Amino acid sequence: MVLEKKERYNVAVVGATGAVGNEMIKVLEQRDFPVEELTLLASSRSVGRKLAYNGQQLEVRELKEDSFGDIDIALFSAGGSISKKFAPVAAKAGTVVVDNTSAFRMDPDVPLVVPEVNPEDIFKHNGIIANPNCSTIQMVVALKPLHDRSRIKRVVVVTFQSVSGGGAKAVAEMELETRALLAGEKFERKIFPHQIAFNALPQIPQSDAFGDNGYTSEEMKMVNETRKIMHDDQIQVAVTCVRVPVYRSHSEAINVETTEKISADQARQLLANAEGVIVIDDLAAQKYPLATDAAGKDDTFVGRIREDISIENGIEMWVVSDNLRKGAALNAVQIAEKLIQG
Ligand code: A2P
Repeated sequence: MVLEKKERYNVAVVGATGAVGNEMIKVLEQRDFPVEELTLLASSRSVGRKLAYNGQQLEVRELKEDSFGDIDIALFSAGGSISKKFAPVAAKAGTVVVDNTSAFRMDPDVPLVVPEVNPEDIFKHNGIIANPNCSTIQMVVALKPLHDRSRIKRVVVVTFQSVSGGGAKAVAEMELETRALLAGEKFERKIFPHQIAFNALPQIPQSDAFGDNGYTSEEMKMVNETRKIMHDDQIQVAVTCVRVPVYRSHSEAINVETTEKISADQARQLLANAEGVIVIDDLAAQKYPLATDAAGKDDTFVGRIREDISIENGIEMWVVSDNLRKGAALNAVQIAEKLIQG
């Protein structure tokens, strides 16, 4: 399926009222995406709500089967079950869907794309292109320049993921719980399985997390999606995903084992030259990437780059990126940008 070339495109955001949907609207505006008309879709609960785009107040409409008649590109972020039901409907109507959920990511007929890593896959779509998991995106952006120099054999990663990855309600729960605890009041949590304020939870997502092998679904996404995006089934990935009480940006402690030796200086150079990466690595000045600094930015920030003292060919690094932007909305819009460039 080929998207017809146009000057401007009719674009829809599905899940426009959510944390990622909102960011998608901002990114479309900030990057001056050639939008003819923007359609904002959400559940019936949000009908009539207005959201700002390019100085206009656009009304949210209810997502229905017939929502896609004149839509060229739809960015979906309303949860996996909504994508499963409506993305094929949209594709059948001739819309190209960029889907931010996990619904189709491992489908062999659906490309899974990070534009800095595998842009060529975009054009293999059959109406649906999948946007990877947020933690995977920033990791592969940092792995790719090293992998291109010397094939990566194994990655060991621990993530420190912000609550905004759990949706708008998760952010609200962190705030309310923090206030309640500081005020010495009782708090009844609804979203997280345990206290998230002043804590670290090794369980993502917050419900139905664990598989038979003891890994969470988020952890297995990082394993499987990394292999698919990098076109390398041999890369071994061992991962622990942790939710921390941070508003925005995921941080990752990544250990990489390569086939040939890459020195810390070489790794710093390779990363500094890579698209979408900024190296912040000045130990004397105590400078390294921070979630608070990365929030609202587009790049993936890498620091604490050092040679692993425990193995022959290993690099350790600290990788931080805004999970709502590069981890979701920005990556989706970048896919759409490449798509219309052809
Ligand atoms: P709504 O606000 O109308 O419920 P988040 O991940 O931040 O919680 O956001 C989820 C997004 O998915 C919201 O925009 C939400 O819209 C949307 N959504 C949830 N259920 C549906 C549904 N049945 N139909 C359309 N959109 C939905």
